[in-house]
Amino acid sequence: MEKISKDNKRNSRANKVMSTKIIIPKELFNEKENITKVMEILEYIKKRYNKEEKIHKIMTSLCLNLLIQKQLLTKKLETKKSNVRNFVNEYNEYFDDLLEISLPEGEDDILGIIYQCLQTEGKKNEKGSYYTPKSIVKNMIKDIKNTNALILDPCCGTGMFLLNIKTDNPNNLYGTDIDDIAIMICKINLILKYKEYEFEPKIKKLDFFTESASINEQFDYIITNPPWGADTSKVDKSFFYEIDSGESFSYVIYNASKLLKECGKMIFLLPISFTNVKVHADIRKYLLGNYKINNIIIYPKNFSGVVTKFVSIEVENRDEHNYNILISDTNQNSLINKEEILNSYSQIISLVAEEEKRIIDIIYQRDYSTLKDSKWALGIVTGDNKNKLKKEYKSGYDKIYTGKEISEYSLLPCKNYIEYKREDFQQVAPEEIYRAKEKIVYKFVSKNITFAYDDKQELFLNSANILIPNIEGLGTKTILAFLNSELFRFVYLKRFNDVKILRGNLEQLPFPRISKEKDNKISRMVDEVLNGNNRIKEDINDEIYTIFELNSNEINTIKESLYGKIK
Ligand SMILES: C[S@@+](CC[C@H](N)C(=O)[O-])C[C@H]1O[C@@H](n2cnc3c(N)ncnc32)[C@H](O)[C@@H]1O
Repeated sequence: MEKISKDNKRNSRANKVMSTKIIIPKELFNEKENITKVMEILEYIKKRYNKEEKIHKIMTSLCLNLLIQKQLLTKKLETKKSNVRNFVNEYNEYFDDLLEISLPEGEDDILGIIYQCLQTEGKKNEKGSYYTPKSIVKNMIKDIKNTNALILDPCCGTGMFLLNIKTDNPNNLYGTDIDDIAIMICKINLILKYKEYEFEPKIKKLDFFTESASINEQFDYIITNPPWGADTSKVDKSFFYEIDSGESFSYVIYNASKLLKECGKMIFLLPISFTNVKVHADIRKYLLGNYKINNIIIYPKNFSGVVTKFVSIEVENRDEHNYNILISDTNQNSLINKEEILNSYSQIISLVAEEEKRIIDIIYQRDYSTLKDSKWALGIVTGDNKNKLKKEYKSGYDKIYTGKEISEYSLLPCKNYIEYKREDFQQVAPEEIYRAKEKIVYKFVSKNITFAYDDKQELFLNSANILIPNIEGLGTKTILAFLNSELFRFVYLKRFNDVKILRGNLEQLPFPRISKEKDNKISRMVDEVLNGNNRIKEDINDEIYTIFELNSNEINTIKESLYGKIK
């Protein structure tokens, strides 16, 4: 794993907080045609208001608008329902005026979607507030059958979990959050969903890192997608003597665990690093030592603004000594023994199935070399892409590629040009790296590891990383073939399971010793791919499987891990 110093981590978080990019979270919509309607509403809002500080007013107006649209409130703000009246009284001070728009039908949380769109990426990063798509929420709550259960979402946002849980009584649903606007929207969502009921939504503003002890109830279920990597610098660490990572999701889990009834369950959505990164050994150890982790589900893809893979975990408030944790992904289930993890170094929870583990062992049992003696470099950081990158070529400009133009084996057509004045750039690698006779380039963030070949001394921006490989007995093109092979994708996925393609991980890939003839043969096959013969990629994969002496069952396991069950 890449070691990121605390300062770097802080800097990268600071950059995100400054970010002003706005993303439409398309996966939150039930009806795709509502995406255009929301874009029109955003345009309308942009024209009518201009400043970010008005979000509270805009969202209050939209809430009241929706209540009127759903006929729970008149335009004169009159209502027969006491919870609607209380709501209007509570938020009156933010109320600007009624907007002349009609909100799209068919969504569970249209206000939450608009709220996510109005916030900058920076703001969402600060609070770790990326709302959870319904398909994931549904999957996480599918085993909750008790419709009388007391349920808490401690970081409820606009209420995606609370809205989707089946309950006989909305008084059993509790939510807390630090975000005033999200709380307001969550209340409206519950009032609208349970409009036949007279009840006050139990949604309250509370900092769950520091104030959870003020909650008096004990719960059957505590379910959430907590903030990941949010700022916890103001939290008094002495209250969490078993948790030293300072990680926001660990604080939420720790505090939630104290609010569970006997045999109550917590279901949390977490980044995959919860399972396998050393710094999170604290929370793994705490849970394994005091609770029962029933299962871990690995999800296949990520959602808007979230670049890491993620899992959900179910933890039960039950004292049980020797048990197995069920690990599931889309293709298979496996079991992993609790005591084995607890007694292991850093309590890493390996998500790799038995057969996959066995295949990886076979691969690493051979004599191999690594990329440790190679040269590595980052692409150029211009400091001002907007002005320095040009779309049109002019004499004196160089082509410059980004990560987006890196595809398997070759580069896609270049889309940008630049005046290559090294002294004007914020970060630039040595000239001889960019101008090397041949080099391999790869995307820094990618679902699959993807490498392209460059022998034209091209320039790259920092969304691409550069590798000039040096392994005795293997040519650059042969190394490229291994890196792009199914087998290496499988090894990378199973060993590191990260969309960030880190040098430290690539340096652990095993390059076998092969004969000169074999090296030449693979290198010639790569030439064919570079000349446009894509069909030969399959032959390269087979050649590499043969080198590692894998049989057809083992190859099928690898293919199933990468592409799902083969029908
Ligand atoms: C990832 S979002 C999830 C929201 C919602 N549960 C969902 O899944 O759609 C995390 C939420 O945690 C809230 N949050 C951040 N820090 C918090 C804290 N200290 N106490 C309570 N909530 C917090 C954010 O405001 C945000 O709404």
